[in-house]
Amino acid sequence: MQTELSKQLGVEYAVFGFTPFPAVAAAISRAGGFGVLGAVRYTAPDDLARDLDWMQEHVDGLPYGLDVVMPAKKAEAPGGQALTEADVEAMIPAGHRQFVEETLAKHGVPGLAEGEASGWRITGWMEQVARGQLDVAFDYPIKLLANALGSPPADVIERAHEQGVLVAALAGSARHARKHADAGIDIVVAQGYEAGGHTGEIASMVLTPEAVEAVAPLPVLAAGGIGSGEQVAAALALGAQGVWLGSVWLTTTEADLHSSALTRKLLAAGSGDTVRSRALTGKPARQLRTEWTDAWDDPAGPGTLPMPLQGLLVAEAVSRIQKYEVEPLLGTPVGQIVGRMNSERSVQAVFDDLTRGFERAVERLNRIAGRA
Ligand SMILES: Cc1cc2nc3c(=O)[nH]c(=O)nc-3n(C[C@H](O)[C@H](O)[C@H](O)COP(=O)(O)O)c2cc1C
Repeated sequence: MQTELSKQLGVEYAVFGFTPFPAVAAAISRAGGFGVLGAVRYTAPDDLARDLDWMQEHVDGLPYGLDVVMPAKKAEAPGGQALTEADVEAMIPAGHRQFVEETLAKHGVPGLAEGEASGWRITGWMEQVARGQLDVAFDYPIKLLANALGSPPADVIERAHEQGVLVAALAGSARHARKHADAGIDIVVAQGYEAGGHTGEIASMVLTPEAVEAVAPLPVLAAGGIGSGEQVAAALALGAQGVWLGSVWLTTTEADLHSSALTRKLLAAGSGDTVRSRALTGKPARQLRTEWTDAWDDPAGPGTLPMPLQGLLVAEAVSRIQKYEVEPLLGTPVGQIVGRMNSERSVQAVFDDLTRGFERAVERLNRIAGRA
């Protein structure tokens, strides 16, 4: 399972793993893949530094990367300056706040204790927050910087290259992939409709070869709907130089979902139990379908607000739902591959399964091609 890109990065397997959890990212690198830590939830630079220190101690000198969310389309204050969190809060209509409270009340969701902060307060998609994360990350020997929601700004690409860090960006269409290539990035992550998190409308089977063709000779990683070695083989057969997996790590023993009810829901969910909804961030993101996403997607409701308003509007509500494990409302970003996530396993066990399945697929194709 070696490609030019995996050799360039010095990893055994061309398997890249996106995860918000440092313990999972480190385990992916130790298992022979390339762990990528999602930084979006780190609003305090010191927290990111603490977790990168931890990663340094636990990757056994193996390479890893960081993922930030710098939207190419920035929300700006009327004067053109970057929006602050207070500006965003002030833009949220009272009717939407009322809808949040009514929906929570309908399910009897308790409030947070006096003075208790909302744990799920993601502002990492605000450029000044993401830049703070980068200031921390460039002090560590990261080998890859990935960006969701567009190409990173030119000065960020330049800074990464000066430090010998490869730059990747997620793309949901061949057009986006070409834009990234024109911006000077090194790797395109072609993420199909099936994927967990923010997705476009083109399925991986169609997108992967289109992206490969659009940006050749730049390497493309296939993302979306990959959870078995056979699927890895299919992606590599379509021309990808590796795969980028996000959902499958959520039910690993190293993941820290803070909710056994959520883990149970993921293990029980089928591939049809996700929905692409704007409920979490204001942009379409695939996640478990719940009564919370149904409420936001109901045409009788007020509808969602654009990014970054929706994320701040629902931040406290999401924390309350998670804290009190209110099952009908409890969800997480996850892709259609959730249908095969049926047992809690270690990251190493996932890799063992991926490599065995890959070998089976190669043997099968060799037999079909008359080479076995
Ligand atoms: C819980 C979760 C959170 C995600 N958050 C981000 C993110 O912050 N930045 C990003 O680039 N991609 C994010 N993604 C998308 C992943 O990077 C990856 O492209 C996707 O999960 C691949 O498809 P799969 O879910 O079918 O494995 C997230 C995915 C999941 C499941």
